[in-house]
Amino acid sequence: MSTLSQDSSNQSAEAQSESAAKAKDEQPMLQIWGGRPLEGHVQVSGAKNSALVLMTGALLASEPCRLSNVPALADIARMGEILTALGVGITQGKHVLEIDPRHITKTSAPYELVSQLRASFFAIGPLLARMGEARVPLPGGCAIGARPVEIHVDGLKQMGAEVYIEHGTVHAYAKKLKGARIYMDYPSVGATETLMMAATLAEGETVLENAAQEPEVVDLANFCRSMGAQIQGAGTNTIVISGVPRLHGTDYQIVPDRIEAATFLTAGAITRSEITVEALVPGHLTAAIAKLKAIGCQLISDKPDALRIVPGDVLRGVDIETLPYPGFPTDMQALFVALLSLCEGSSVVTETVYENRLGHVPELKRMGADIKIKGNNAMIQGVPQLSGAPVTGTDLRASAAMVVAGLAAHGQTTVQGLHHLDRGYDNIEAKLRSLGAKIERIDPVAKV
Ligand code: EPU
Repeated sequence: MSTLSQDSSNQSAEAQSESAAKAKDEQPMLQIWGGRPLEGHVQVSGAKNSALVLMTGALLASEPCRLSNVPALADIARMGEILTALGVGITQGKHVLEIDPRHITKTSAPYELVSQLRASFFAIGPLLARMGEARVPLPGGCAIGARPVEIHVDGLKQMGAEVYIEHGTVHAYAKKLKGARIYMDYPSVGATETLMMAATLAEGETVLENAAQEPEVVDLANFCRSMGAQIQGAGTNTIVISGVPRLHGTDYQIVPDRIEAATFLTAGAITRSEITVEALVPGHLTAAIAKLKAIGCQLISDKPDALRIVPGDVLRGVDIETLPYPGFPTDMQALFVALLSLCEGSSVVTETVYENRLGHVPELKRMGADIKIKGNNAMIQGVPQLSGAPVTGTDLRASAAMVVAGLAAHGQTTVQGLHHLDRGYDNIEAKLRSLGAKIERIDPVAKV
């Protein structure tokens, strides 16, 4: 009896893993024939992490807003669905979004949508400031870490909001938020954005101390200022916001995506190719440029919004530690681990921002990289070449690192897990093909 039931449970485990494997086989994937040099120019899209937060920022306005240079991404579509569920009008054009927040009908965001897009939690600040209440489900963790939101919540409480968590949802109420001096325990990007947005419509002055300094925070401040907000100090660790009674509509262009720019620069370096990455802001890439130079690449600015990468004959390993901006960005860590795996000598890459962001290492090892993980360190010993393999991207930036590694690897690499990649890269394969890469998207279901 017991043997029988064990057999049947084994069978069902086998059946389960078979159907999981079948489901995986049916997912779209990228096929890359690596080892070919790249050449030419490539254009960077608007910044995903700016676009997402600016979309929530539009909730603050009493009039329609227009955003341009919006990347075409799965995450942007999801944020559009969340805003639609709140009663916001959304009209989408090519890289343009018209957002009409005049008639918000709901202050409660649906769990099914928020759980798919962590950034949608950032709507809590503007909803609360404009509507006096917000109910947003806790987004939960993801592949790279637990990603709590207590800094957002503590800050809103310090601004006079009543905030409590019930049944997995954060409930926040405040007839009128009040300005406050808020010290953040960590310069969280999202918490800085949440509190800065909330403060724009609060009574009196808010000072955010130990604020995040990322370019996306500055972009949000500029967007809010274009709607009439009074914000000073964005881009430093102290931001001062004087509340105003209302914000008007605006027409605003999103900054270029510095992480996408770094993706193409590392693609140039790893394939030892001279390419030009255009429509970027070099000042947003200071840490990446410094590391690429230390590795042995020249970065030449032929015009103010472009960088040409010229890899040297010998590329050497360097050590990197991820930090809040202007330190080396965690979102570029996986890309540089891929690059360093093909640089001479040893490198140590330390991830300090997230507790679990080295998921790309086992995949790179499958391609022949020599990397050991010790705690939050990736200890890399450069190898002369990688060999193409089937690999899976475990999160957005890990997927991009697989693509970059596949461009350099000998033979064919198949990258699975494209639902991650498509969250943050606007048509990456077409852009890489324009640089001469041999890369195809295979959609097994579409072919049937
Ligand atoms: N943290 C807390 N408590 C909080 C908030 C954050 O402990 O209340 C911790 C997080 O768990 C994490 C660290 O602080 O360990 C940094 O988190 P942060 O809040 O700065 O990140 P975020 O706002 O959630 C944004 C980007 C991320 C990027 C980080 C860091 C968006 C939509 N996302 O996330 O982007 O990694 O800043 O620069 O803006 C990506 O694009 O792939 C991505 C993950």
